[in-house]
Amino acid sequence: MSNVTQRFYDRISSVYDLIADGGEHQARERGLAALAVRPGESVLEIGYGTGHSMVQLAQSVGPGGHVTGIDISPGMRKQTGGRVTKAGVEELVDLLVGEIPPLPMENDSFDVVSMSFTLELFSRETIPVVLAECRRVLKPGGRLGIVSMAEVEDGETESILERSYVWMHTHFPHIVDCQPIAVERLIEDAGFKISSQERYSLFTMPVAIVVAK
Ligand SMILES: C[S@@+](CC[C@H](N)C(=O)[O-])C[C@H]1O[C@@H](n2cnc3c(N)ncnc32)[C@H](O)[C@@H]1O
Repeated sequence: MSNVTQRFYDRISSVYDLIADGGEHQARERGLAALAVRPGESVLEIGYGTGHSMVQLAQSVGPGGHVTGIDISPGMRKQTGGRVTKAGVEELVDLLVGEIPPLPMENDSFDVVSMSFTLELFSRETIPVVLAECRRVLKPGGRLGIVSMAEVEDGETESILERSYVWMHTHFPHIVDCQPIAVERLIEDAGFKISSQERYSLFTMPVAIVVAK
């Protein structure tokens, strides 16, 4: 699976912003606002994609802080490297290429772990493993920030787009690699306590924006 994922993201890395960023960037920015990263903090971003959040996170932590990113795709690493250099924050940033899980970091390493539009790419069996790894590398009291396509909840208006994603992911997982997930429940099942949560509508698809400790 990993070679397929890597090749897929390598292939789309140079056009990813055209394909996805128009819809996703607002939700991602709301996620960063909710996380409220402070000067001096150490941050890990999983699945940095084309690096928009890496730049913003580096600007938030400033010279006393540090941001580490890990992504499976060397193509995405190239895009992000260019963006980070252009923004002049390269000294605050480490860009790793690798497949997770596991996370190649020590226990209690980060104040913040952030993931946007990435948790929903993992299989239902792997998501708890990914969240357990996030918990392991967070310092006590550290914050987890997740922005993810979410399942429609009771009381929410049904979304045809959400149902289409589920159907496509079930029948054509090689074409649609992500699926809406029960974000809040999965985070709580992994032992986190949610400190803020909101919902965003991405062309009717619910997106969960969650911060947990
Ligand atoms: C849908 S993109 C989201 C990118 C970015 N976070 C954003 O919000 O624009 C998912 C990213 O996760 C990376 N990725 C997918 N599976 C991965 C894995 N198993 N380990 C590490 N990175 C992975 C992909 O290469 C891609 O850059």
